[in-house]
Amino acid sequence: MAKTVTKIGVLTSGGDAPGMNAAIRAVVRTGIYYGLDVYGIIRGYSGMVEGDIIRMHGKSVANIIQRGGTILKTSRCLDFYKKEGREKAYQHLKKHGIDSLVIIGGDGSFRGAQIFSNEFDIPCIGLPGTIDKDIAGTDFTIGFDTAVNTAVEAIDKIRDTMDAHDRLFIIEVMGRDSGYIALHSGISTGAENILIPERRTDIEAVIVALTEKERRQKLVNLIVVAEGEGFGGADEVAKIIKERMPSQEVRVCILGHIQRGGAPSCFDRVIASRMGFAAVECLIEGRHNIFIGIINNRLHYIPLNEAVKKKQRISDDWMKIVRILST
Ligand code: F6P
Repeated sequence: MAKTVTKIGVLTSGGDAPGMNAAIRAVVRTGIYYGLDVYGIIRGYSGMVEGDIIRMHGKSVANIIQRGGTILKTSRCLDFYKKEGREKAYQHLKKHGIDSLVIIGGDGSFRGAQIFSNEFDIPCIGLPGTIDKDIAGTDFTIGFDTAVNTAVEAIDKIRDTMDAHDRLFIIEVMGRDSGYIALHSGISTGAENILIPERRTDIEAVIVALTEKERRQKLVNLIVVAEGEGFGGADEVAKIIKERMPSQEVRVCILGHIQRGGAPSCFDRVIASRMGFAAVECLIEGRHNIFIGIINNRLHYIPLNEAVKKKQRISDDWMKIVRILST
């Protein structure tokens, strides 16, 4: 028999992502609509371990849908990895009568949710909130679209100066072990090459391609590198190119945390609202220990352990597009 839920705790965990506020708003307002009490847990699992928990009302989430970051704040909580920390967290939930959780975060946060739920029988629903788009079972994660658009805007600006000086720019984007931000931002800014963790970087092939372009007097070149790329990131790639091709004017730009901030795109606000709404309905219907994904624009309910076990794959078609369009 599914447990009846009456008090939901909502938290954001791991790296913040634009759209997390829209998701919090949807959880709070849907919960209240269905007559449930909703509590905000501050700084992710840290707030659960320390008992930093507040009651949320419809008004608590007014005027936040358009804001980046997360009003509940976030953290990566080491104490939650330990049984002792999770026991403390459970006691704090019990004190407030919280009987279910919505966790907005990445696969690490889902892993924590799964362990916690198995240990203490607390129903959990995950919402994929990460700019990295590294969770298997969903076409999109909350924050990815905004982060990619921020990267594109920045790269377009760099392209202006790159073009004015006939330079080679190597731009590093975020993504941890995932190449999706690099692929999307690179393809949409016309990058000559995109280097990602999911493919081995063939530095010789990069140099051969640049040499061939130099022969054709094509001196304006853009290489987008994902931070988790195996050769060593933008700085290492630039070092080798400078050594081997002294005639090239090489510059490096690491975009960094700018990609995590800013107003969420319409797309992120909409998926966050849909997912937050669905999370509460799932809890009421007794669907537990799943995360809400989006595939072909429809909501999907995927067991948490699938997100934990599987990784997003990048098909060879993507790499073919990059190769053909960059000639
Ligand atoms: O997971 C989101 C992310 O921004 C990754 O792309 C990046 O590797 C990491 O977080 C950076 O983490 P921090 O903000 O702790 O330096």
